[in-house]
Amino acid sequence: MKKIAVIYWSGTGNTEAMAKAIAEGAQNANTEVSLLSVDQASMDDVINADSIAFGCPSMGAEVLEESEMEPFIESIEGELSGKPVALFGSYGWGNGEWMQDWVERMNGCKAKVIGEGLIIMGAPSDPDLEECKTLGIELSEV
Ligand SMILES: Cc1cc2nc3c(=O)[nH]c(=O)nc-3n(C[C@H](O)[C@H](O)[C@H](O)COP(=O)(O)O)c2cc1C
Repeated sequence: MKKIAVIYWSGTGNTEAMAKAIAEGAQNANTEVSLLSVDQASMDDVINADSIAFGCPSMGAEVLEESEMEPFIESIEGELSGKPVALFGSYGWGNGEWMQDWVERMNGCKAKVIGEGLIIMGAPSDPDLEECKTLGIELSEV
């Protein structure tokens, strides 16, 4: 059975709502999905997953959240070569630069990045959540 991990940080719940929809989309008869906030996640969750979705909103000044998500990503970067990875997150007022940088960074780790990073302004609407589910389906099919 294919193992999928959805690992995210969310301060006010917007990225968490995206994570839940992605996990829902990824869930099918042939997948085992772990939905984990980053404080619950370990390197083994990354190593053991066949494909992974990482989620984090734009924080600081167009960067990943710095106390939990950034150190986690830094710690597992060496484990991503060849692994299918989807990125997602919510943002407020910027231009999505944090996501562009994150995609570039994952490409640098030789992860197989799916799409260009799914970004949603503020709280996801129902159509946004459908898009998240579709990303989850893609993740389960790679
Ligand atoms: C400390 C802080 C820094 C932020 N910096 C940015 C930023 O640089 N660019 C941006 O577009 N939004 C920024 N935001 C807005 C968040 O990305 C936005 O509120 C998002 O929906 C939060 O997602 P969450 O509910 O998953 O925490 C910032 C929010 C906070 C609290």
